[in-house]
Amino acid sequence: MTNIYAVILAAGKGTRMKSKLYKVLHPVCGKPMVEHVIDQISDLHTHKIVTIVGHGAEKVKGYLGEKSEFALQAEQLGTAHAVMQAEEILGKEEGCTLVVCGDTPLIKSSTMEALVNFHTEQQAKATILTAYTDQPDGYGRIIRNEQGMVEKIVEHKDATDEERKVKEINTGTYCFDNRYLFETLKKVSNDNAQGEYYLPDVIEILQKAGEKVAAYQTADFNETLGVNDRVALSQAEKIMRERINEQHMRNGVTLVSPENAFIGPDVVIGSDTIIHPGTVLSGNTSIGADCEIGPNSEINNCQVGDSTVIRHSVAADSEIGSRVAIGPFAHIRPASQISDEAKIGNFVEIKKSVFGKGSKASHLSYIGDAEVGSGVNLGCGSITVNYDGKNKFLTKIEDDAFIGCNSNLVAPVTVGKGAYVAAGSTITNDVPGEALAIGRARQVNKENYVEKLNLKK
Ligand code: UD1
Ligand code: CA
Repeated sequence: MTNIYAVILAAGKGTRMKSKLYKVLHPVCGKPMVEHVIDQISDLHTHKIVTIVGHGAEKVKGYLGEKSEFALQAEQLGTAHAVMQAEEILGKEEGCTLVVCGDTPLIKSSTMEALVNFHTEQQAKATILTAYTDQPDGYGRIIRNEQGMVEKIVEHKDATDEERKVKEINTGTYCFDNRYLFETLKKVSNDNAQGEYYLPDVIEILQKAGEKVAAYQTADFNETLGVNDRVALSQAEKIMRERINEQHMRNGVTLVSPENAFIGPDVVIGSDTIIHPGTVLSGNTSIGADCEIGPNSEINNCQVGDSTVIRHSVAADSEIGSRVAIGPFAHIRPASQISDEAKIGNFVEIKKSVFGKGSKASHLSYIGDAEVGSGVNLGCGSITVNYDGKNKFLTKIEDDAFIGCNSNLVAPVTVGKGAYVAAGSTITNDVPGEALAIGRARQVNKENYVEKLNLKK
């Protein structure tokens, strides 16, 4: 096996995006374009991945972290110039080097693998990944000679009318013999419509020098879509979403309305789970088997067990157990842990709290900075008073406690195991286990009040 290296071009600003955000960081299904590309390349077991950064270099590096090495292209003089920046890291290596644009987020590892294999079989010095499309505008065109061999790539802006009719395009993904690549890059000039050093010119230079240049055609143009503006971004989003959703359906997940299910690329879902319309699952979310999620729910970075139902609700950065019922209209905020068989009903907000097995907060509660044991019943409107305007304090509610409706638990405070809190109480002192705490004024009835004040009409 030859060694495989990869260079990802990600230094451009992306002028056509008209955005403050650097192009390759624009998300597709919630993940930056360039990260999609790197994650696919990582499946190929490459020896080194070098990302060329320039515009927004620090931000791009921040996103990719350990996934890549980086080379800086301080001035964006073209794609050939960009690849040249990797010379220090890759120049002396033997093997083949994939070059991929950071703005082709739909490219699959299987296609890049096929490209590398074809390149190796052909013993070529350079192999271009090409595709056919009826809308080749903007792409470099593949110019072949009478024998059907690739001669060169002409950029759209440099092409003649005749050349613009060619429907075979350069996808921007290539495989090169590493040594030949860095040698040939030195010979590329910037004598063209854009005054840039074009990477595709390497092809013509090698071809003219009598070296073997090959082209590998992929059947799926969609996969090679280059995102230069927001119209293409929305197309990429749609294609990626369909791809992700199809995979889940093939794995045994029901998507009631696939066009209305927005599932991130790293989300895992168990079989026989039903995803209702308007559901957004993002980040490192995993959903177990036999769950029902949605309609209209947003879940980010959560681990959800089996047979849990989450309807019309929002949850983030939390763990949610099995056979839990959440919603409608609940809000699970970060660092919460909702145990098995718990029930979080309508208009309940949970923040940074442990909520024990089988416990219930069925209506209109705020539970923040709390440790709620198992079998606890929080009555309608009961809340933790966790904040004094400066600091946050812990509320502990031990197993099997019963909190009456509309109670305020003023933290720090503990309600002991099996204790009762009377409805309408404001609890400022700990409640011993199995006690009843009543923290409210006694009711006084003023008899004949209306008559005394002469209010009768
Ligand atoms: C490029 C190809 C074109 C191909 C198309 C496929 C060139 C000259 N043209 O055109 O043949 O059909 O991709 O999508 O290569 N970049 C840098 N540094 C630079 C310039 C660009 O890192 O100095 C990066 C960009 O961030 C981008 C990628 O290279 O990720 C491609 O650049 P872009 O300007 O989008 O090239 P296209 O015009 O799309
Ligand atoms: Ca592009």
